[in-house]
Amino acid sequence: MKKSSLKTTDKTIYTSIELEKKRQIEGIELIPSENYVSPSVLEAMGSILTNKYSEGFVGHRYYGGNMYIDKIEQECIDRAKKLFGVVHVNVQPYSGSPANFAIYNALLKPGDPISGMNLLDGGHLTHGWKVSVTAKFFKSYPYHVKHDGRVDFEELKKIAQEFKPKLIWCGATAYTREIEFAKFAEIADSIGAYLIADISHISGLVLGGVHTSPVKYAHVITTTTHKTLRGPRGAMIMITPKGIEKDPELPQKIDKAIFPGLQGGPHNHTTAGIAVALGEASKPPFKKYAAQIVKNAKVLANEFTKRGITLVSGGTDNHLMLLDLSKEGNLGSQLEYAMDVAHITANKNTIPGDTASPFYPSGIRIGTPAITTRGMKEPQMKQIATWIVAIIDHIKAYPLPEDKTKRAEFMADFKKKMDKDVFLLNIAKEVKQFTVKFPVPGISK
Ligand SMILES: Cc1ncc(COP(=O)(O)O)c(C=O)c1O
Repeated sequence: MKKSSLKTTDKTIYTSIELEKKRQIEGIELIPSENYVSPSVLEAMGSILTNKYSEGFVGHRYYGGNMYIDKIEQECIDRAKKLFGVVHVNVQPYSGSPANFAIYNALLKPGDPISGMNLLDGGHLTHGWKVSVTAKFFKSYPYHVKHDGRVDFEELKKIAQEFKPKLIWCGATAYTREIEFAKFAEIADSIGAYLIADISHISGLVLGGVHTSPVKYAHVITTTTHKTLRGPRGAMIMITPKGIEKDPELPQKIDKAIFPGLQGGPHNHTTAGIAVALGEASKPPFKKYAAQIVKNAKVLANEFTKRGITLVSGGTDNHLMLLDLSKEGNLGSQLEYAMDVAHITANKNTIPGDTASPFYPSGIRIGTPAITTRGMKEPQMKQIATWIVAIIDHIKAYPLPEDKTKRAEFMADFKKKMDKDVFLLNIAKEVKQFTVKFPVPGISK
């Protein structure tokens, strides 16, 4: 068969991909949960492995023809086991949320009590936030962070004593400090609860040796593979020696909860991509990469502080920071949009105790994994902070209306103005020139 290309077979999708490619090249990506994968990961993801069905696990499939898929999945498992130092790994979860659902499916009965970090304080939806099925099917007792932006362990202790959660989540989506696994373990162990560490955001930092590993403390670990780990969109569930000690049947329970409990056929192209990413993470340059992510974040945070911007918890220990823009006029939504016009991408985010709302929050979340992949270092962080602070100053004239009913109209109006804003469009031009010097892996123009 003659090789055809998307350009000729499907112009509509091709054009949108090309535009997205241009956006990725010409913009500064500061969303902390995003990254750029290597050409090898892309190659695995775009491979013919997507053609194959392989329900089941290595050596026990419900379809024929899985001899090569078995090799790939086993290699992926072996790499993860060795790198993280765990006993059992399931690499089949379609993404982070299904991985977390599988944990509930494996370990709890409907209605059982659980505790995770409150979403507005930085936790993830799947850790028991009220609109998630995890709070509909289970009794959720969220813990919070204190005014200083750090986990309120006194509150968690009280929750543990009063409600006896069977499962405690540690790990977060928007938390700027080291996750204190030992403190979580002490509380979970005191009531015999499972401690599940969701290290989706920080798994690359753990492998790079710049964040404590949860292996000694948690029974089970979940992680997405597409954030700091720099692999394809997917996830893994890992069982630690401590987990096996608590419950020797955990591997079977977790595997069954994924298949047939929750999913069907694994995404084999993703499994191959994860294996490739783990291979990359096992090499010395990855350690340097992880260290540079944190260095960059610290420099960026310091630059914001020097320029009078308030940061939740006063700084960062990891790859992300949260700008508290409540005193500037609850600018989260406005800043996200204005930065987009200037080709700088981040996401609006609630700050602990936010008085605005999750849709119009007071903060913005900024992270360094993607720009570090492009080779940006300390001097570039200073430049990026300069642009963002200039944009904040520029849009201070547009505080969020106190009256909630006026917010939608205000934002529509604000967006129209910003689309034509010469100051922002000039920054966009500068950003375009700036980013040319930092190629995106896997993308050629
Ligand atoms: C801590 C944490 N857990 C789970 C997830 C869910 O991952 P996914 O979006 O792949 O379902 C995320 C995603 O942001 C996350 O930050």
